Amino acid sequence: MPDDIRNIVILTGAGISAESGLATFRGPDGLWEGHRVEDVCTPQALERDPVLVHRFYDERRAKLADVSPNPAHEALAALDAAWLGDLLIVTQNVDDLHERAGAKRLIHMHGELQSALCARCGRAVRWEAALPPSAICAGCGSASLRPDIVFFGEMPYRMDEIDEALARADLFVSVGTSGAVYPAAGYVQTARHYGARTIELNLDPSAGSFYFEETRLGPASLLVPELVQQLLS
Ligand code: OAD
Ligand code: ZN
Repeated sequence: MPDDIRNIVILTGAGISAESGLATFRGPDGLWEGHRVEDVCTPQALERDPVLVHRFYDERRAKLADVSPNPAHEALAALDAAWLGDLLIVTQNVDDLHERAGAKRLIHMHGELQSALCARCGRAVRWEAALPPSAICAGCGSASLRPDIVFFGEMPYRMDEIDEALARADLFVSVGTSGAVYPAAGYVQTARHYGARTIELNLDPSAGSFYFEETRLGPASLLVPELVQQLLS
């Protein structure tokens, strides 16, 4: 790895948690095979059928108790702890496996399963149990708590911070994402535009493989520790 790499941005997607036992979205056993995105992941769905939407995320939140971080999450946490330059892990995942592995410099751009957001006053609270649509917000007293997930058509979190990190990055790494959902799918082009080196780690080539200077194909649990070792040696 060249010595001139100081600032790193790592984008992760469902593929990094697949070997921990969490389903990805697209593909044969994907979450979007059993559910239509429009039924569980849009503001309209929440309005139309809150019980169904809450149940979908309750099931996924409950599943977190059965899984643990895998070597890919652990390697990124080790990199975060050791790397002296800027580093930002931007995850599209709503699970908590990066933080359970110990990652600190982390943004959940699509929200978190273990957070509830009040649709009325905007207050977010940590939420580990099931979230019934009747749950009351401690901030404003209304029954407006929803899963703190960025639905399709909503704005991802902390976009300014992510853009700033991409503009400063010397290396952009994408792990386990299909490149189907924007704005995350466009980060490789932004990072390249600002002069970063770009590497993709994925099981299969993604929709945006073409934009990366280098693509390494294989399971995240092997490829991520390998890359981290290269960066730290
Ligand atoms: P996808 O399910 O679209 O893509 C997962 C990617 O991971 C695919 O390219 C797989 O080839 C790859 N993959 C699977 N197993 C892997 C492994 N063991 N090692 C490495 N790669 C592996 O998931 P995302 O790209 O994360 O949004 O999806 C992006 C967004 O779409 C999600 O955040 C979600 C969804 O709709 C929201 O819920 C808001
Ligand atoms: Zn409230």
